[in-house]
Amino acid sequence: MPRIRVSVLASGRGSNLQAIMDAVRGGKLDARLACVFSDKKDAPALERARSGGADAVHLSAKDYPDREAYDVAIVKVLREYQTDLVALAGFMRIITPVLIASFKDRIMNIHPSLLPAFPGLHAQRQALAYGVKTSGATVHFVDQEVDHGPIIIQAAVPVMEGDTEETLSARILEQEHRIYPQAIQWFAEGRLKVEGRRVWVREDGR
Ligand code: GRF
Repeated sequence: MPRIRVSVLASGRGSNLQAIMDAVRGGKLDARLACVFSDKKDAPALERARSGGADAVHLSAKDYPDREAYDVAIVKVLREYQTDLVALAGFMRIITPVLIASFKDRIMNIHPSLLPAFPGLHAQRQALAYGVKTSGATVHFVDQEVDHGPIIIQAAVPVMEGDTEETLSARILEQEHRIYPQAIQWFAEGRLKVEGRRVWVREDGR
C-alpha cells in the first residue's frame, strides 16, 4: 500500500507531474497519484495523466461566481479522491484561503528560482535580467502569500554566460524534476516538520 495519496494541480505542460509519475512508477516515491486536476481543458498535463493511468479532472473557473466558489469545488474533488497531499505543478491560479485552510501544511508548490528571489511570473527571465550568477528551484509549502511558504528543498544551478530564458529554464527544470519527487517522498515518510518558516527533514518519520 502506498503511504499517501497525492493530487497534482497543473495548468500546462505537466513535466513536473511526469517526474512525479515516473518516480512513483520507478519505486522512488511511495505514493499513489490520487487525481490530476486542471483549470485548463486542454492542458497537456491532463493527457499525461490519462496516459499514465491516472484520473484527470477539469473544471472551468468560468462556471463559478468567484474564486472562493471555484476553490470549494476543487476541495470537493480533492476530498473525493481522498487526497493527503496537494502538489501544485505549474498551476497558474492564485489559490484562496478556502483551499489553503482545507489542506493546511499539505499543499506544496514548485517555483523556478531560489526563493525569496524572483517570486511570481517569469522567474527565470527575472533572474537573467537581474544578473544573478546562481539561480535554481524551490519546493515549499503553500501559505497565503504567493511563492512564500516554508521552504522544503532548494537546488542551485549556475547562470552561464550567453544563457537565454530557454537554456536557463531547461537547466532549472532538470533540478525541479529531481527535487519535487524528493520533497513528496519526505512528506510520505512523515519526515517533514514545520516550525514557523523553517522545515526540518527528520532522520526518522515515526
Ligand atoms: C515549472 O517551471 C514550475 O517551477 C513552475 O511552472 C513550471 C511548470 O512546468 N511553477 P511543468 O508544467 O511542470 O512542465
